[in-house]
Amino acid sequence: MQVVETITEMKRLRRQLPEPFGFVPTMGYLHKGHISLVRYARKENASVVASIFVNPTQFGPSEDFEDYPRDTKRDLAMLEEAKTDVVFIPPATEMYPERFSSWVEVGKLTERLEGNARPTHFRGVTTICTKLFNIVEPTKAYFGQKDAQQALVIKKMVADLNMNLEIVMCPTVREPDGLAMSSRHIYLSKEQRQAAVSLYEAIQLAEELWSEGERDAEHLRQVVTSHIQQQPLAEIEYVSVADTETLEELKTATSSGLLSLVVRFGKTRLLDNTILK
Ligand code: PAF
Repeated sequence: MQVVETITEMKRLRRQLPEPFGFVPTMGYLHKGHISLVRYARKENASVVASIFVNPTQFGPSEDFEDYPRDTKRDLAMLEEAKTDVVFIPPATEMYPERFSSWVEVGKLTERLEGNARPTHFRGVTTICTKLFNIVEPTKAYFGQKDAQQALVIKKMVADLNMNLEIVMCPTVREPDGLAMSSRHIYLSKEQRQAAVSLYEAIQLAEELWSEGERDAEHLRQVVTSHIQQQPLAEIEYVSVADTETLEELKTATSSGLLSLVVRFGKTRLLDNTILK
């Protein structure tokens, strides 16, 4: 496994490695969810590149950029074990040199759900992904369903801007009790971690109702909300049942719907979702 820090070196290596080329962008502090993306990429490609870059532009001013957990040594060991060929790990000055001033914005889709709660977040994500795609030039890039809106936004950007790659959304990887894996679990106290399992329980309740034929989106939202509200440590930010492409809130989820939710435990925001179909 080769570890490179500069754009020039990454581009040089890119020309030497065999196609097709799978890419897994990350912000590090890896868990099994990230590694499952690397494994999907490994199965479908001749070469696999991962990046580790805690992207400052996708954090709001009061968010956890400075405190975001980092452990590069452990990340590199995990990527090596998963048979990654190249890890691109640039310093911030490489990605955002002085006087950097160009941005990629996707529009409507980024104003809903996470975009509503974090107004500048997606602009940072789409800009850094565009830069990484231009540097790495992957055949396919892999994203987790846990951040379903992020995957949808990036798919839309790739389609709208005729970018030459395919975006693959891979299933959410869960802890044994069902909690969706996240680098931010490190912030949770023991009590918060125990209470956090209510997110998955609520999702399962909605999935059960859906399989019995429930299509009233408001009822699904209410069932999820009241289950999570039983946990005094949980503070619900939103529960949404939205169109799987436009992310507009639904009244009736006729044939499908993206059920997504964000719940705060203290300062930690946890996301989860399921696609009802
Ligand atoms: O999902 C993430 O870890 C980040 O948003 C990404 C896609 C690596 C861009 O910084």
